[in-house]
Amino acid sequence: MRTAATFARSFAALALGAAALLLAGCTQDMATQPRYNPLRASDFFGDRRSARPLVPGTVPRGELRSDAKLYTGMSNGLLIDSPPFPITRADLARGQERFNINCAPCHDRTGYGNGLVAQRGFRHPPSYHIQRLIDAPLGHFYDVMTRGFGAMQDMSDRVTPEDRWRIAAYIRALQYSQHANVSDVPAGERNKLNRLPAAASVPAGHVAVPPASQAPQKESK
Ligand code: HEC
Repeated sequence: MRTAATFARSFAALALGAAALLLAGCTQDMATQPRYNPLRASDFFGDRRSARPLVPGTVPRGELRSDAKLYTGMSNGLLIDSPPFPITRADLARGQERFNINCAPCHDRTGYGNGLVAQRGFRHPPSYHIQRLIDAPLGHFYDVMTRGFGAMQDMSDRVTPEDRWRIAAYIRALQYSQHANVSDVPAGERNKLNRLPAAASVPAGHVAVPPASQAPQKESK
């Protein structure tokens, strides 16, 4: 009996010791396990990025972009000249806001291309009021924002496709603001023009935008 008890005790002690050793080993390995911290460089991949891009052709749930007009600004390989969804006055107001945030730093609020960034040495963008851009289809403006143009980087990471169309529509409104004729205004709306704020009350570099109730509505093409 005595020998059996001693044996059991020394066996238990041995087992405990072995387990302690094993566990100590585990702690070490878990603390230094091979893994990447977010955005850490990798020697394994050719582009040295540990965060891997989506496999080409992957469509995240809910992001199947099957509406070609909305997402490419094209139809049958040609740039479209009308927005892919009806532009309301609220869309134009949103377009104006997004334009003033994302584009005016270079293009300035009137679209003549004399924004502060350009004044400080960046390449001057062309004026939106030159004939070539007045004649350009609406889809051209969408395309420039989506894919960039020459020295201008694309804006697709900060302006959603819908907002790009709203901005494009607002650029059309800006173009009208510099070139419109009284005859462009529907006859029934012309008398409202006299109620626009006087030009002198608009600060330099700003465009007079009448309150919604007085504004001649821009027709969406
Ligand atoms: C950092 C300055 C900068 C910003 C911001 C910027 N642009 Fe531009 N944009 C340029 C420059 C510079 C050019 C001329 C590029 C060239 O010809 O190489 C240009 C050209 C253009 C053109 C004319 C393309 C043509 O056919 O000649 C359009 C349209 C345009 N930008 C729209 C936009 C819109 C819309 C936004 C905002 C969503 C925007 N840009 C934001 C600098 C900018």
